[in-house]
Amino acid sequence: MALRDIVKDGSTILRKKCREVESFDDKLGKLLDDMHETMKHADGVGLAGPQVGIARRIAVVEVGETYLEMVNPVIVAASGSQIGQEACLSVPGKSCMVERPMNVTVAYLDRRGEKREGSFTGLTARACCHEIDHLDGVLFYDKEYRGGYRRADK
Ligand code: CO
Repeated sequence: MALRDIVKDGSTILRKKCREVESFDDKLGKLLDDMHETMKHADGVGLAGPQVGIARRIAVVEVGETYLEMVNPVIVAASGSQIGQEACLSVPGKSCMVERPMNVTVAYLDRRGEKREGSFTGLTARACCHEIDHLDGVLFYDKEYRGGYRRADK
């Protein structure tokens, strides 16, 4: 495994719509391993392909005991809402409030191309949304929440 350089905001790759992964080979496995190591080293909870210079639909998310490697992920269900602080390894020194679903179900492929589906809540759901946005060239601050106070349990 190796650390990869994290692309910083201002780079055009962060604004690209990424293409789907079609080859489930050793190169993909190595990339996912490197992304995991790079994310942990940077103390993040998620990292997406374009953040390491690869405009492909791949992301890793790690929150507590949950580690996800998502290839071609799609949010197939979402419910509830949460408003909370977000930041990004590609946007150092910046954070803002973003509204996200409280619960999401994500369909994706694993590194071998096997179909997977998982339901996540809270921070894990937030991280999945944030990373999947990266695959469409969307950064968290594009979605800055500017609304008023809302009850957290709604
Ligand atoms: Co990010």
